[in-house]
Amino acid sequence: MVSETISSQQAIDLEDKYGAHNYHPLPVVLNKGEGVYVWDVEGKQYYDFLSAYSAVNQGHCHPSIINALKEQASVLTLTSRAFYNDVLGKYEKFVTEYFGFDKVLPMNTGAEAVETAIKLCRKYAYEKKGIAENKAEIIVCKNNFHGRTTTIISFSNDEDARKNFGPFTAGFIKIDYDNLQALEDALQSSNNIAGFLVEPIQGEAGVYVPSEGYLASAKALCEKYGVLFIADEVQTGVARTGKLLAVDHENVKPDILILGKALSGGVYPVSAVFANNEIMNVIKPGQHGSTFGGNPLACAVAIAALNVVKDEALAENSEKLGELFRSEIQKFADSNDLVKLVRGKGLLNAIVINDSEDSSTAWDICIKLRDNGLLAKPTHGNIIRFAPPLVMNEAQLLDCVSIIKKTISEF
Ligand SMILES: Cc1ncc(COP(=O)(O)O)c(C=O)c1O
Repeated sequence: MVSETISSQQAIDLEDKYGAHNYHPLPVVLNKGEGVYVWDVEGKQYYDFLSAYSAVNQGHCHPSIINALKEQASVLTLTSRAFYNDVLGKYEKFVTEYFGFDKVLPMNTGAEAVETAIKLCRKYAYEKKGIAENKAEIIVCKNNFHGRTTTIISFSNDEDARKNFGPFTAGFIKIDYDNLQALEDALQSSNNIAGFLVEPIQGEAGVYVPSEGYLASAKALCEKYGVLFIADEVQTGVARTGKLLAVDHENVKPDILILGKALSGGVYPVSAVFANNEIMNVIKPGQHGSTFGGNPLACAVAIAALNVVKDEALAENSEKLGELFRSEIQKFADSNDLVKLVRGKGLLNAIVINDSEDSSTAWDICIKLRDNGLLAKPTHGNIIRFAPPLVMNEAQLLDCVSIIKKTISEF
């Protein structure tokens, strides 16, 4: 049945009728991907300039990741953690050495990994810092995006994500992003602070890059007050911003690191939480888990996906092409009133459209970009995020820049 050919309109109608309406997709129906390209069911080719929200950093259907998937899928896919399997340990050794931590806790989605990090941080605070039971607080930033579970939306300030989903989980203090004074004030405000959870760049909020030195100073403040620094690199990690991790730009080593998305090259849901022994060892059997977390298929896929990142120097390519992208778009913005600014790091960038927040201009531009062969999506307000697969080459990037310039010039 899934191989039956249907038109774009039929596919959209099916989703509309049988699926929950929890997304508002751009009207384009894809059925094939390879590298930086995707194709719709009518055969039109597009540049993918979203990469499944930075999950497909290694490009669509990367042959070595797909081979690893096929090979492992034909032998063993899932054992649950009731038994050992012969891939998990190899993956754990590989991935902890890769990112430089003693231990990893494998999960599946980004939100699950964030939940895991919150639990780990709280447990460490109670058992190692002596915070009184149920009193632990975690500092988070306004306009954060860490996923959509009940606890995570408890500390979101996106009203669409919160309205009528309460009651919410207590124990979070919200401060301004990129504001060290606010962080220090919050750290001083209570003896029950367990951690500071932060995105090194706020992706969903509209690719907000904090001031240079913010992450290093925030980490230093956390050390001063004996609080865990938790980096949510679900979107920024795995070479997206021009380094393996976005915190690497400031030589910061988080106490807890959260990864997801591109950990599997977008081939399979794989997420992970990293910490050193002192922290990770507070978790004992039965206290946390997931049927699928650490399954052999996920482990084989993630090893292959991370090898691609190093073998193909994706961080270096992202850094180089990101510079080129921003300088080209900046030149264009200087001569075009509709583009207010371009910002980002590596190949995680956004343009801010010079129009009111509630206008549909960014959406309309994305529709025209689609017509012109490039897929991107507005984030909050009038901001368009540009995050192509990191396997893009310079000629392709310049081609995309000219599509973007041509499209916006038509408005
Ligand atoms: C920074 C960050 N954290 C967590 C998540 C949630 O990941 P998932 O959608 O896999 O649950 C996202 C997703 O966009 C994210 O950008």
